[in-house]
Amino acid sequence: MAWPPETGSSFTAAKGPHRVHPRLLGRTDLAIPPLVFGTMARRQADDATREQLIRAAVDRGLTALDTAPLYDFGRCETQIGRALRGIPRDRVQLLTKVGLRWHGGAHGRVLFAFDDAQGRRVEVRKDSRPDSLRWEVEQSLQRLQVESLDLVQVHHPDVDTPMAETMGALLDLKAQGKLRYIGVSNFSAEQVLAAQAALGDEPLCSLQSDYSLLRRELESELLPLCREQCIGVLAYSPLGVGILAGRLPKIDDSAAMRRLQQAFRTTLSPIADVHSCSPAAVALAWLLAQPGLTAAIAGASSVEQLDTQLDAIALELAPGEVAELSQAFANLNWPASWEQSQGRVSRWLRRARRLGGRALRSVGIDPSKRLQ
Ligand SMILES: NC(=O)c1ccc[n+]([C@@H]2O[C@H](COP(=O)([O-])OP(=O)(O)OC[C@H]3O[C@@H](n4cnc5c(N)ncnc54)[C@H](OP(=O)(O)O)[C@@H]3O)[C@@H](O)[C@H]2O)c1
Repeated sequence: MAWPPETGSSFTAAKGPHRVHPRLLGRTDLAIPPLVFGTMARRQADDATREQLIRAAVDRGLTALDTAPLYDFGRCETQIGRALRGIPRDRVQLLTKVGLRWHGGAHGRVLFAFDDAQGRRVEVRKDSRPDSLRWEVEQSLQRLQVESLDLVQVHHPDVDTPMAETMGALLDLKAQGKLRYIGVSNFSAEQVLAAQAALGDEPLCSLQSDYSLLRRELESELLPLCREQCIGVLAYSPLGVGILAGRLPKIDDSAAMRRLQQAFRTTLSPIADVHSCSPAAVALAWLLAQPGLTAAIAGASSVEQLDTQLDAIALELAPGEVAELSQAFANLNWPASWEQSQGRVSRWLRRARRLGGRALRSVGIDPSKRLQ
């Protein structure tokens, strides 16, 4: 398949062959399909399985891949590099990120921390200092086995490094041909404007943000701002990490949960039935109908999941359906309520384990051995 196609390329989705019409990202000539394949693995899988999935996405016309050094700590970019062997470089668009380091020293705010398999504490820090960015881009080029990256996005804002230094380093890397365009992710409106100001005449290509029927914060400020400034917008977690594909959590009976189930049952699911496609495709098509949104970055753990999403590309929802969905999922205050309820469940499980442990110990059984 030649890319970028003049008139759109064919691919086969659940409802038959469709055409993928590329969209330009911001004020650039970077043409990407409206669905970008998100490569952050949410389930354990071996390299061969992940590489087959990446290849399947590209074969289906999803030629833009979103990744990051952080995803599986470099392994994800390596898998992409291997999966794309033999595919001409100009037929795929590689969107990666910089600015989150693990084992990178003590600079920057900690985004999250965990204990690795050896029990060592690992802190993931926001680090957008020029030397760090230069090192990261070299690493990504090697892992992806390419000479230039199509889009490099600052993954999270590093408020301890002046924006001018970060953007200056990225401009230098662009001048050296190591990247084509510069974007940001998880930036506030103020930070987006600061990034564009620091770039001068170079367009800020895109903003990547959490946006779906379940997360609508973007609509109040950032989406109108990006529209006005002609900055492309990429929505991540567009399926609410599977909820909008029908994997509704069943752990809670809160009012928010009941509203979510009702919105799914009475609005999303029937609209999917009308169009003979999956709820996932409808949720993605709703996003693609939002003015100012360029593309949705959806993830999948299998080719079957991927195939449920593809109809979104050709699905044109009626304005009434778009409004109905907006209304049904409005003000769900998601996922705050869900995270709170998750917190309640894990507190309950911890307590149950503690009590169970005490009971086992009282009859002479060591619960840690028994649980192995
Ligand atoms: N910039 C950032 O900070 C940031 C943050 C998050 C994500 N991202 C990007 O956005 C991409 C997608 O985000 P995401 O994975 O968070 O969210 P998502 O696209 O909303 O959800 C993807 C997950 O939904 C489930 N799913 C998809 N289709 C399904 C189907 N038909 N039936 C049932 N479940 C289905 C799968 O979960 P299971 O794997 O559990 O089956 C899949 O991994 C990532 O890969 C990454 O590229 C960026």
